[in-house]
Amino acid sequence: MSVQRNINEQKKDRFSSTGFIMAAIGSSVGLGNMWKFPYITGENGGAAFFLLFIICLVVIGLPVLLAELAIGRSGRGSAATAFVRVGGKPGWKGLGILQVIAPFMILSFYIIVAGWTLHYAVTAFSGNLFSDTDFAGQFSHFVSGYMPIFWQFVALLITGGVVILGISGGIEKFNKILIPSLVVLLIVLMIRAVTLPGAEAGVSFFLNPDFSQLTAESALVALGHAFFSLSLGMGILLTYGSYVRKEQSLGSATLAIGAGDLIYAFIAGLIIFPTTFSFGIAPDQGPSLVFIALPAAFSAMPWGAFFGGLFFILLAIAALTSAVSLLEVPVSYTMERFGWSRRRSVWILILLLFLLGVPSSLSLGMVPELTFGGKAFFDWVDFITSNIMLPIGGLAITIFAGYFWKGAAEASGLRAGWFRVWLFMLRYIAPILVFLVLLHTSGIIQF
Ligand code: PHE
Repeated sequence: MSVQRNINEQKKDRFSSTGFIMAAIGSSVGLGNMWKFPYITGENGGAAFFLLFIICLVVIGLPVLLAELAIGRSGRGSAATAFVRVGGKPGWKGLGILQVIAPFMILSFYIIVAGWTLHYAVTAFSGNLFSDTDFAGQFSHFVSGYMPIFWQFVALLITGGVVILGISGGIEKFNKILIPSLVVLLIVLMIRAVTLPGAEAGVSFFLNPDFSQLTAESALVALGHAFFSLSLGMGILLTYGSYVRKEQSLGSATLAIGAGDLIYAFIAGLIIFPTTFSFGIAPDQGPSLVFIALPAAFSAMPWGAFFGGLFFILLAIAALTSAVSLLEVPVSYTMERFGWSRRRSVWILILLLFLLGVPSSLSLGMVPELTFGGKAFFDWVDFITSNIMLPIGGLAITIFAGYFWKGAAEASGLRAGWFRVWLFMLRYIAPILVFLVLLHTSGIIQF
């Protein structure tokens, strides 16, 4: 197939308007909302942190989100070429390439955690998860073995299967079914959680702010998470933006996506905190919270296997809709760059992702040599992408859109007043704060 034909094919395949919003919410709602948000909120004192997160999301996250969508739609290509086309200078190419490498690397370990959720969903429904109540032991035994590689493979196949079907026939359909189902499942679990005995303590931890708990560090964590949660700084919204029709209002899409992300995080908090508090489990246990503390809580609950299974299915859905968006970035790039068909791009990339993911998974126990400098290979990939590449990508986008993009006003579609506010945020506020996040996450400044 010729390069030109592939490009033409790609051009015709567009999102419908609600399909696009569902897909973008699907990308933003992921393990970040369901797994990371609750534990960082737990570690940073609860409600006050939640409030800070909302502020960061609205004030910094949304302007950057809109910038990415607008650049993507104007560039009408992969994330790698969007900046060059829109900025008119080949020098922007490096920024574009960073936006393709980062999601590829993120996906290599994100898919592993997605695989864990599949395993947990299956074992929760079958009851096996609850047959042994040493949940910490079970988790470390599972994670450090070979089984996660099987589940990583399954998760990759599902993700690839969706992306192969294209934008309107694959990614849009998948999200249009799963995102509304997710909200229904979440509400069922939320009702279960808030009606547990002693749930009020969890609700109040999550919703009654105690500002004395806040530190400068929590502010940076909140901002970093707003970025991660909206899937910013890694080419996703640039890529999705390139499939958006020109009639669609990007301003209202941005608000809808931000609201969607927040609502899912809010409901996730109302599931996790009441559940953990009700069973006397501390909410600040870090990443293992959902895999260790929650199974313990579900096991002590009537119908625990059912609710536990439901919870992990939900986590799996959230993870897979994000994984799909991560995969589309390099797929779109390789189709454009090498003239590959969508099918070929997907197969080659999932093979490479599998190969890159295996050492990550093995580094969690099987192969101790894969731990160096005090961090497992898995944590290195996470650290380099989330803490370094993501903030650099975000920073570069604010600077590009704020200072170098002549067509910004028209491409954003904003009215003059809002456009000025947006530009102000992109020029003066976002870059400084994102730069501080970068210094913090890379370890250059510490508190
Ligand atoms: N936004 C997703 C979440 O909240 C995570 C994600 C990050 C997805 C980066 C894609 C890219 O889990």
